[in-house]
Amino acid sequence: MVGGRNSLVVFLVSVLIIFSRSPSVLGRQYKQLATIHVTNSMPKGSGPMQVHCKSSYTDYGMHQVGGGDEYQCGVRERALYYCMAISGRRVASWHAFQPRRDRSRGAVYWLVKDDGIFLSWDNSSWVRKSLWETE
Ligand SMILES: *[C@@H]1O[C@H](CO)[C@@H](O)[C@H](O)[C@H]1NC(C)=O
Repeated sequence: MVGGRNSLVVFLVSVLIIFSRSPSVLGRQYKQLATIHVTNSMPKGSGPMQVHCKSSYTDYGMHQVGGGDEYQCGVRERALYYCMAISGRRVASWHAFQPRRDRSRGAVYWLVKDDGIFLSWDNSSWVRKSLWETE
């Protein structure tokens, strides 16, 4: 039954597409409130940077972000999200999403630079919000 087998393949492919597009099917239902963007703007030769973002409910784990690259994660709950960056012997942490401050913003941009961690809501004007600490 060649026809039957083809329709099974079409059905399975459709199911895969639906699953991959709908996060609510795989976990608990949520609506993404905002996106956190973290860009590695450290000077060339700073070596790899690690970024870890989390709230009390969601933990995105540690990710390596190359020079000039951007890491993104979603805000799933109306809760405080922290991010932490590690570069060499330096560590920085900051409030990446604050419900009262960022509630009406679809995106919160962070620039990780040699002289600190900078916030923007439009990815163009930046304000320093945090400093590096030495381990
Ligand atoms: C933010 O701006 C930088 C520099 O102009 C650009 O490379 C990056 O793609 C922008 N990010 C987003 C999410 O638009």
